[in-house]
Amino acid sequence: MNTFRLKEGMLLGTASAATQIEGGALDHSWMDWWRQGHIVDGTSPERANDHYRLWQQDDALMRDLGLQIARIGVEWARVEPQQGVFDEDAVAHYVQEAELLIGYGIRPLVTLHHFTNPMWFEKAGAFENPANLPVFLRFVEKMVTAFGTRVHEYITINEPNVYATNGYFFGLWPPGDRNLKRTVRVMSALAVAHIEAYRLIHALREAMGATDTRVSFANHMRVFAPRNPRNPVHRILTRVMEHLFQGALSKALCVGVFPWPLHRRGHHARGRYCDFIAVNYYTRTTVDSLNDGVRENVPVTDLGWEIYPEGIVDCARKLYRLCPAPIYITENGTCDNADSFRCRYICEHLRALCESELPVERYYHWCFLDNFEWTAGESARFGLVEVDYPTQRRTVKQSGAFFRDVIAAGGVTEAIFERYVRDQVYRTNVKTGG
Ligand code: BGC
Repeated sequence: MNTFRLKEGMLLGTASAATQIEGGALDHSWMDWWRQGHIVDGTSPERANDHYRLWQQDDALMRDLGLQIARIGVEWARVEPQQGVFDEDAVAHYVQEAELLIGYGIRPLVTLHHFTNPMWFEKAGAFENPANLPVFLRFVEKMVTAFGTRVHEYITINEPNVYATNGYFFGLWPPGDRNLKRTVRVMSALAVAHIEAYRLIHALREAMGATDTRVSFANHMRVFAPRNPRNPVHRILTRVMEHLFQGALSKALCVGVFPWPLHRRGHHARGRYCDFIAVNYYTRTTVDSLNDGVRENVPVTDLGWEIYPEGIVDCARKLYRLCPAPIYITENGTCDNADSFRCRYICEHLRALCESELPVERYYHWCFLDNFEWTAGESARFGLVEVDYPTQRRTVKQSGAFFRDVIAAGGVTEAIFERYVRDQVYRTNVKTGG
């Protein structure tokens, strides 16, 4: 069947991160990473989408597409440019943006930390340094207090596993180290930071009289599968990789249980620290070594990631078993520079979710606009809306129109499928000789 209906009450919208869309010459870890020459096309987050200036226009476009929800981020380096010194105009800006979205009937979900640190925090050892935990919590308190009763849903930290492994194990992201011990230390510290932020946000909002608080962290989840299921080495490595990359961390952040190799430094944390399950899902990893492999002869995105729609359900189900709670897909999307298969990609992932038994309440597509894709810079396009960077002109893509129509129809009808999906095909990474 090509058609399907969204689950009862399920809401659709988009996700974004401050560093990737806002622009501005800020002193943070990604500006520094660009200065060090690590962005493949040489572009910097200083340009991005200029969203900090164009926010009203962008939010009106979200309304025009009928989005019901939006995951938005706060740039810590903008709000607290020097340690302990808050820029009240920047704080007010985020509150205004949340108010505008709410006025449009779009519910905001606010991410407090999405990969980027102010340089003063980075230089002080970032999360690895236990003395910095209260510093992070002070920023959390500042923002949650400012949003007050307007915003009731928060993501404390985006993808702690990606932040820790890319930055401290693979050396691909700031601070660029390749050190397993440090990676584990940072992962453990992020788990504690999330738990403390979770408690703090609940306490602050309780004091405001709010009873509708929902807090979680965005869990980057992949399917891990052995390249050759009959090969015992591949099978063992698959389990090890899954545990080290996501299994152990999910437990620590969701329920405060710190399995090996994580450690909690005397922190007594058993409990429940997610009011909803937040899953960021993109792909499947094929395992034959301690690396992020991709099998051959499968559909792939323009970044070479395998397209594996059923995986979104496997990942959500795993977390649901660990911590039964409403499920929000807080990110799912694809690099498709020509926008030639994004409609099919969205359709297949949404269908898998809607046909599952799971209580999926939200789907946030990554991303609204093409944006600064970390080390890929402006070269990788994930948006429903195209951005012409030199002029900052926005043009709704075919996939943006598809998403709008799916929201309006409450699912994929035969007419929508015919118009947007039927003719779209994926590229396959066919193995060529040698
Ligand atoms: C991140 C986003 C990123 C997206 C696509 C996620 O891991 O949270 O910031 O742009 O993947 O790579």
